[in-house]
Amino acid sequence: MLVSATEMLQKARAGKYAVGQFNINNLEWTKAILLTAQELNSPVILGVSEGAGKYMTGFETVASMVKAMDKSLGITVPVALHLDHGSYDGCYKCIKAGFTSIMFDGSHFPIAENVAKTTELVNVAHQLGLSIEAEVGAIGGEEDGVVGKGECADPNECKQIADLGVDFLAAGIGNIHGVYPANWEGLSFETLEAVNKEVGEMPLVLHGGTGIPDDQITKAISLGVAKINVNTECQLVFADATREYIEAGKDKQGKGFDPRKLLAPGFEAIKAKVKEKMELFGSVDKA
Ligand code: 13P
Repeated sequence: MLVSATEMLQKARAGKYAVGQFNINNLEWTKAILLTAQELNSPVILGVSEGAGKYMTGFETVASMVKAMDKSLGITVPVALHLDHGSYDGCYKCIKAGFTSIMFDGSHFPIAENVAKTTELVNVAHQLGLSIEAEVGAIGGEEDGVVGKGECADPNECKQIADLGVDFLAAGIGNIHGVYPANWEGLSFETLEAVNKEVGEMPLVLHGGTGIPDDQITKAISLGVAKINVNTECQLVFADATREYIEAGKDKQGKGFDPRKLLAPGFEAIKAKVKEKMELFGSVDKA
């Protein structure tokens, strides 16, 4: 059931658990995530970066695929189709294509410009029943061409953006997209506590979910994080499972080269990873 992410995240924040945003890249990803959410009776957010949208030939293709798959698989748990790190133009394209949620990443603009553009997009999104995420303090590392420095957000700026009526807020707390370097200092709970104090009941978003130790995830949830984004980890397990299949020579046995067989181990690996994360985040049976 395609819905905006507002209600599921408000419930998560109040119930002290988090809903996973898992980024999709193609049909296998989408199917694996939807089926796992349904099996675990968990709400879920499908994240689409601008790069992944382009790869799948555009946001319209993505929205059509997700809507049709949601219907044909008989998915009854709440599913939000969400633009990840959207540009101003990207947000409008997704609104038009039928997404149910958008993220406007104005973190690289001066705060006044971030405020002006976010205000406009909040109004448009809410008029059409979509939820909207905003970002303060760039997330480090690289997400599909979007590069951030990994700074910690200024709690006052977070309040300023939260007061514009966004539905959930990504605040940089030392988190980084992709695999964390060995010398990473961990999440800044000091920043998270300060942000949480400023924004009241606003669900907070933790980007860069890949590789954050479980105890830090649990602590972040206790401090107001209600949405956790995971992308790289699913890509890594998919690649590992596919490599194992090919290195074992299974693509050379019978019709093992058939893409439905070749991609099956990777598909199962994504399912297992999503299950592990939903259990860790506490969203199982919260649909
Ligand atoms: P990872 O790729 O580090 O899991 O980050 C995902 C993300 O934050 C998407 O916005």
